[in-house]
Amino acid sequence: MADVSFSELFARALAGDPCTVVGVGDGPDVLPEPLPVGEWRRPADKTDLAVLDLCDGVTIDVGCGPGRMAAALAERGHDVLAIDVVAEAVALAQGLGVAAARHSVFDVLPHEGRWTTALLADGNVGIGGDPAALLRRIRELLEPGGRVVVDIAPPGTGIESRWAQLRCGDDTSRPFRWSVVGVDAIEELAISAGLQLRDLRSIKDRWIAVLVPGPMPVLPGLADLAVDHHAEHVAGRLDRRTNGHGTPRNGHANGHANGHTNGHANGQLNGHADDHSDGPGIAGRP
Ligand SMILES: C[S@@+](CC[C@H](N)C(=O)[O-])C[C@H]1O[C@@H](n2cnc3c(N)ncnc32)[C@H](O)[C@@H]1O
Repeated sequence: MADVSFSELFARALAGDPCTVVGVGDGPDVLPEPLPVGEWRRPADKTDLAVLDLCDGVTIDVGCGPGRMAAALAERGHDVLAIDVVAEAVALAQGLGVAAARHSVFDVLPHEGRWTTALLADGNVGIGGDPAALLRRIRELLEPGGRVVVDIAPPGTGIESRWAQLRCGDDTSRPFRWSVVGVDAIEELAISAGLQLRDLRSIKDRWIAVLVPGPMPVLPGLADLAVDHHAEHVAGRLDRRTNGHGTPRNGHANGHANGHTNGHANGQLNGHADDHSDGPGIAGRP
């Protein structure tokens, strides 16, 4: 049956039901893989702690699962909030003494724009299946000097996005989007989300990137559109003003339009594009 929610089956997996995750589609790499719940329910190990060394200050653990990373951070004295969409995961994290709340990362969250670190542990850059949209959303959560600590996949992986389902016994969840991002893809992806690669570490069998806020990119095409639109507007004004005076319309309009509209495109249009891309509709909630 494929009409069970992700949350319901994930909760069963956390409670000990043997569940698998299966990619939707054809091909040898979409075979069911066991959901590594044991990895998430154990205490943080030496490698986890080395990952947590990269977290700084007030930290939000996004997609905390049962909360081992947030618990270890709290033990180290960090102020930490753990969030997850699955109520049972939040309850387990709270059971470890962690401040945890049921939220999607795409909800309005406490402390927006003031987190020093956002942690995306254990492949959580895959949440929602659109890593650029997720990282743009995460960037909004950070203070200007903040950072994202991201667990990524080995070199050569690129970015793979697909539909997947959880399977527990005879039950299969509704499909959800998930992505995997490799070392080779992280820098370009970060730039597309207004972030910069600050640090890249290989820690035992894991790859960890530290991303910091950088300039927001202008979406391709929008700047040109803005220039064209503004140029028409200016040209119209010049036409009205210079009617009969023979002012060289194109020269004026182009100069004015280029200088003026670049600022417009960088500020307003980026802000607008962000509002759209960060909507819960794009990332989807399992
Ligand atoms: C790979 S598991 C978490 C593992 C955990 N970070 C750890 O290292 O132990 C992914 C988690 O992301 C959560 N999740 C999925 N979509 C989410 C969303 N939109 N916002 C917050 N959490 C989400 C899932 O419920 C799940 O607990």
